[in-house]
Amino acid sequence: MSSDLIRKYNIPGPRYTSYPTVPYWESTGFSVQAWKDSLLKRFRENREISLYLHLPFCESLCTFCGCNKRITKQHGVEMPYIETLIREWELYLQELPYKPIIKEVHLGGGTPTFFSPENLEFLLKTIFRKAEVADAPEFSFEGHPNNTTKAHLTKLAELGFRRVSYGVQDYNMKVQIAIHRVQPFENVKRATGEAREAGYNSIGHDIIFGLPFQTKEHIIETIEKTKQLMPDRIAFYSYAHVPWIKGSGQRGFNEDDLPDGETKREMYETGKQMLEEAGYVEIGMDHFALKTDSLYKAVEEKNLHRNFMGYTTSNTGLMIGLGVSAISDSWYGFAQNEKTVEAYQAKIEKGEIPVFRGHILSEEDLKIRKHILNLMCRLETRWESPEDYFEELPEVLVKLREMEGDGLVEFSENGLHIPEKGRPFVRNICMAFDLRLQRNVPDTRLFSMTM
Ligand SMILES: C[S@@+](CC[C@H](N)C(=O)[O-])C[C@H]1O[C@@H](n2cnc3c(N)ncnc32)[C@H](O)[C@@H]1O
Ligand code: SF4
Repeated sequence: MSSDLIRKYNIPGPRYTSYPTVPYWESTGFSVQAWKDSLLKRFRENREISLYLHLPFCESLCTFCGCNKRITKQHGVEMPYIETLIREWELYLQELPYKPIIKEVHLGGGTPTFFSPENLEFLLKTIFRKAEVADAPEFSFEGHPNNTTKAHLTKLAELGFRRVSYGVQDYNMKVQIAIHRVQPFENVKRATGEAREAGYNSIGHDIIFGLPFQTKEHIIETIEKTKQLMPDRIAFYSYAHVPWIKGSGQRGFNEDDLPDGETKREMYETGKQMLEEAGYVEIGMDHFALKTDSLYKAVEEKNLHRNFMGYTTSNTGLMIGLGVSAISDSWYGFAQNEKTVEAYQAKIEKGEIPVFRGHILSEEDLKIRKHILNLMCRLETRWESPEDYFEELPEVLVKLREMEGDGLVEFSENGLHIPEKGRPFVRNICMAFDLRLQRNVPDTRLFSMTM
């Protein structure tokens, strides 16, 4: 890939787990009542829902981590937090005219298996008792090779979980020390083997390129080790350096310790080639899967969807996020919960849905959202007629024509697709559609670099 293209397109840009992206949500027009109305509108169209449960606690801080987490070794926090989650679920149920059908559950964090297997069982059984569960539900969780035990895996398998993703990041010791996450290969091997034995049919490993002190050789070493375990899926993330986000905890290294954009691109290309040689297929952005995995099947069946959980294999249209900082998505609106455990619990205690910000989508947002999802999930998008789309949004066309000149997109009669050369630039291509970003270019850093 040419260095000129990297220099031109390696700019700050969103990862598009939503459109509009969170910094562009409009508080005017948003209220908890507006959020409830949008939720109800979607629910009346489809009773099936996805549940995202945010379990924020971790025993130790990894200094690369951009997630919402709370570091503690005090396990006394488990039960009060679970009680709050259940109370929040009840608040949502009060809003719905009939019982929802739970189609998907994802436990994210933080470290969900910070909680004991018994406490997780209590939480999930209580939630399920108050709703219906779909016939072939898709339940997944984020595991941690250093603390997800066989007992966790077995208990969650009994409850219907078949998918787990483990944070691996990098196997090199120098990198592991820099990110404060020492995690030997043996731990990942054990956790992966135990998940297979417990009946999980989709085991994922998360690998990151662009970490402090990381080199291309480390990526080769990490992927060689990964090939020994052959997880069903691999998330191959670009390290998102966002130290300005409050509570990100990214520290202990300098910007100078991070590989530059061009080195990152080489890391990505090396990793991609090795994974493809090993039988993995690249899916959307950041993801690889074996052809036997449900993520690959979702691509074949054109069911791939993207939301705050990343890529998912179905689209229920209504995702309720429970827990601190969790984001809910009713298709017509987004809402985010309070970001500290204390503020979150305080609102629930008052009997309020603990949302502190959100956005109700306009007609234009809905149109753009569809295109961005198509590009992220299928690397192509279509419109009724060019006039219909671009007369209203001429700015989009100017940007896209320039990308066409650079070989990153190809136009067809009523649509466009992203060829292999454009694949690493999918975030940039989505940015061309992102009118909110174009109308209001930020003067401070909001997003990580696209490379
Ligand atoms: C929320 S973490 C939860 C996983 C679990 N707590 C663990 O550490 O294994 C999910 C994944 O997000 C990814 N992640 C977190 N911070 C990131 C960052 N700054 N840039 C890129 N990926 C990141 C990591 O790959 C991590 O495994
Ligand atoms: S990477 Fe996982 S374990 Fe580490 S701080 Fe983030 S959420 Fe916690």
